Amino acid sequence: MVNVVVTGGAGFLGSRLARELLAAGSLEVAGRGARPLSRMVLIDRAPVAADLAADERVAVICGDLSELPGPVLTGRDALAGADVVFHLAAAVSAECEADFDLGMAANLRATESLLASCRALGTNPVVVFASSVAVFGASGEHPLPAIVSDHTAPNPQSSYGAQKVIGEQLLADYTRKGFLRGRAVRLMTVSVRPGRPNAAASSFLSGIIREPLAGERAICPVDARTEVAIMSPARAIDGLLCAATSTDQAWGGRSAVNLPALTLTVADMVTALERVAGPEASALIDWVPDPAVAAIVTGWPARFRTDRAARLGLVPDPDFDSVINMHLAETQH
Ligand SMILES: NC(=O)c1ccc[n+]([C@@H]2O[C@H](COP(=O)([O-])OP(=O)(O)OC[C@H]3O[C@@H](n4cnc5c(N)ncnc54)[C@H](O)[C@@H]3O)[C@@H](O)[C@H]2O)c1
Repeated sequence: MVNVVVTGGAGFLGSRLARELLAAGSLEVAGRGARPLSRMVLIDRAPVAADLAADERVAVICGDLSELPGPVLTGRDALAGADVVFHLAAAVSAECEADFDLGMAANLRATESLLASCRALGTNPVVVFASSVAVFGASGEHPLPAIVSDHTAPNPQSSYGAQKVIGEQLLADYTRKGFLRGRAVRLMTVSVRPGRPNAAASSFLSGIIREPLAGERAICPVDARTEVAIMSPARAIDGLLCAATSTDQAWGGRSAVNLPALTLTVADMVTALERVAGPEASALIDWVPDPAVAAIVTGWPARFRTDRAARLGLVPDPDFDSVINMHLAETQH
């Protein structure tokens, strides 16, 4: 039997991951053979989706991870018996820039308290941490290389990126100490995200596709020549699951793994939208520069060499047309 915990289980990726795991009905943890999924705890300060809450294998803890007392997390109702913990709860990039204290609480203190609770279990659980491409950035003394590899040193240029780097390092040290088996994956910008816009600086990278496909106008705040690194929701879930299922040997170390990226310009994305949905779709995009958003997004690298992910069998999306078609297939019933 496998017990799974998902923090951020009400969020976009957390709920998608939870649905996929529940549908699969079993999980192989760190290469130890697939076992039936008997229990899943979803922790979030927001309410989780009704379909997930209704599953008899699911228990929901609604609360702020940074404020949940240790006994709640390690006790009978939450982490007890956890084989794998997916730590996805986080405040997103622009939120953390706008509210420093929120980012420190949601991304740093919550992560620290979760790791301490995992340690207190004494069972060495696998802990998968959703990090981000925002750990990278360029500064005067530390320019970005033309291509970012698994060996490129993080140099975050936002509070969110700094909090993700610290989370990665804490996870690595808890792993070194033998308290848990940490696996950090750096997600590229996930597009196309369904639903409504969120407070991430990269939110428009879904909005400029999602809204026009629904016949609504969307704002693009950056220049069309801006290069970005994208992954579809499906490839993001592949990365999170691979982190949970790989053997320690295959995972290959304590440092974070850069997940595969599809590199393209915003203009390429809009051209793909036109190919899939016609020029009337791309005509719904208003190009309204926002220097604050552009400063964050253009500071992230777009070109990657992801050898470690490739060795783990992870692949990028083949092209953006297929990403748009996947979004249409999932949202149009
Ligand atoms: N979606 C992307 O493009 C992307 C890219 C890189 C990294 N990531 C990372 O992946 C993870 C999941 O992203 P997402 O897009 O699903 O985000 P999301 O905002 O949809 O979900 C995050 C969830 O975490 C919850 N949460 C935040 N702070 C909390 C706290 N203190 N206590 C309890 N719950 C809390 C929120 O209520 C939300 O439901 C995050 O860690 C994010 O930083 C996402």
